[in-house]
Amino acid sequence: MVVIGGGGLIGSELVANLRNRGHEVLAASPDSGVNTITGEGLAAALAGAQVVVDVSNSPSFEDAAVLKFFQTSTGNLVAAEARAGVSHHVALSIVGTDRVPDSGYLRAKLAQETLIEASGVPYSILRSTQFFEFVSRIAQASPDGTLRVSGALFQPVLSTDVVAALADITLGAPLNGIAEVGGPERFPMNEAVRRVLRANGDRREVVTDDHARYFGAELTDQSLVAGPTARVGSKRFEDWLSEAASQPPAANR
Ligand SMILES: NC(=O)c1ccc[n+]([C@@H]2O[C@H](COP(=O)([O-])OP(=O)(O)OC[C@H]3O[C@@H](n4cnc5c(N)ncnc54)[C@H](OP(=O)(O)O)[C@@H]3O)[C@@H](O)[C@H]2O)c1
Repeated sequence: MVVIGGGGLIGSELVANLRNRGHEVLAASPDSGVNTITGEGLAAALAGAQVVVDVSNSPSFEDAAVLKFFQTSTGNLVAAEARAGVSHHVALSIVGTDRVPDSGYLRAKLAQETLIEASGVPYSILRSTQFFEFVSRIAQASPDGTLRVSGALFQPVLSTDVVAALADITLGAPLNGIAEVGGPERFPMNEAVRRVLRANGDRREVVTDDHARYFGAELTDQSLVAGPTARVGSKRFEDWLSEAASQPPAANR
């Protein structure tokens, strides 16, 4: 098996999870000489692989850059998989990719999904809600001193719970379809940002603004929450925050 983006947040945990379950896994990323944009090292990495999991991410979240990243990377990857005879392509996408067209990042993830579906390689797509680890990035996304955050419903999930779902899908037969995973609770996004700031000792005020844009898009209560058949993670946000706060700073992410 090959994990593209195997050095990232999800990738490194997924590689460890699959290896613990006895599988031989190549962790592939530019750091290890495999680049899905330039094609460097790709054919050699895929030689003999049956399953490829793509958990890479764009270095830039700027609208045009992220679209170019996912289109180029996915195009190169599925073409290389077809040549190598890969029998299962697994990708991690985002709940709501098809519901939030004003977000450049979600448009790029939808373009990634479309390329996979058209590739002819048997595939599974897992759409996840936002990771707990990502909530602080939402807080930073606001431009000035005031943090304006939408009060739309939000259902964040621990990365480890996403990895568990992704590992099970990776080891199963191709779905040739889309599954979802989300956290165990839904609450307003501004609440999640407030809780993270409080836990980090950040005293800035979070202003609730339903017109505040989330990576370019206004949200509704339906935009980012998972559907009724989604797999549900077990870790609660509040518990994760208190556990992180009780750990020494180096392990506290
Ligand atoms: N953040 C969220 O809340 C969320 C929610 C749902 C889904 N997702 C999706 O989850 C996926 C993984 O996210 P993450 O936070 O784990 O990402 P991450 O920590 O930023 O890791 C990204 C990985 O992609 C690799 N990469 C970058 N450019 C590459 C290239 N040209 N060729 C091959 N690999 C490349 C990086 O390589 P190096 O290690 O060499 O730098 C790194 O290993 C993304 O596709 C994202 O859209 C995210």
